Amino acid sequence: MTDKYAVIGNPIAHSKSPEIHTMFAAQFKDKPAGDISYEKIEAPLDGFAVTVERLRKEGYKGCNVTVPFKFDACRIVNEVSNEVIDAFDSGESPDAINTLDFRNGAITGYNTDGIGLLRDITQNLKHEITGKRVLLMGAGGAAYGVLHPLLEASPASFVIYNRTLEKALILKKSTEQHDKFRHVSLNAVEFGKLGNAQFDIVINATSVGLTDSKIPLPETVFALGALAYDMMYGRDTPFMKFAREHGAQVADGLGMLVEQAAEAFWIWRGVRPDTASVIAALRG
Ligand code: ATR
Repeated sequence: MTDKYAVIGNPIAHSKSPEIHTMFAAQFKDKPAGDISYEKIEAPLDGFAVTVERLRKEGYKGCNVTVPFKFDACRIVNEVSNEVIDAFDSGESPDAINTLDFRNGAITGYNTDGIGLLRDITQNLKHEITGKRVLLMGAGGAAYGVLHPLLEASPASFVIYNRTLEKALILKKSTEQHDKFRHVSLNAVEFGKLGNAQFDIVINATSVGLTDSKIPLPETVFALGALAYDMMYGRDTPFMKFAREHGAQVADGLGMLVEQAAEAFWIWRGVRPDTASVIAALRG
């Protein structure tokens, strides 16, 4: 019998997840791993938990969770994966669960965004994070979801750069009780106060790209050979234009989107789909 999955969000019309998971499944056609259906579901803003319960009753095997429900998802899980537990342990809300697995009568939550970003940067774009200087712009849910996985990759130094300093400081605090992050020099800096620091990897995790507002960045922020990564996709943001004009290699978040989906597919189906062909198909 075909196993049912879905992505829940509001709005959801724009989601590429059904297309991505259908392409993954096609790589395993005639095998049990590929026998899935995947649909988009728009839940009412106050109806996330009820929607999940309905899906479980109807026999769905799992779902992805997108804006604005990643925090609601944290509240309904029975178990969380290791990375998410780290965030819970820090005493701060992880604010970000994007994958739920309904097997064994429980709801297990995962965040595959961080691993998706890491894979896109290191494997697809071939930029090392280990030993490098990383600038993470933003301190909302999107930044929170990728902070710990990025630090796990052992950058030499790491700056969280945000319009509101307090929020950057909360993110910084979430790392402090983890011995494994002690060796990373970590700072929280508010907009306009970067001085002449240079970075090898600059990641935009703010939602500024939705508007035409600009993030204040010094012209010298990109080190030679730097990567400028915007977690948004489908739009050439002011940050991407600025980075291109100042000599950085520029990437949007489409690769991350496909990689986070691949990780969810692996959690659910136990096989790893090829991602390069799916990224190419979506760009085409
Ligand atoms: P998301 O889930 O997309 O991360 P969020 O939690 O609302 O959404 O966080 C949005 C992020 O984008 C925050 O870092 C926010 O900065 P503040 O913490 O100062 O609010 C940032 N952001 C949104 N609009 C912005 C703008 N016009 N200029 C600068 N930063 C902006």
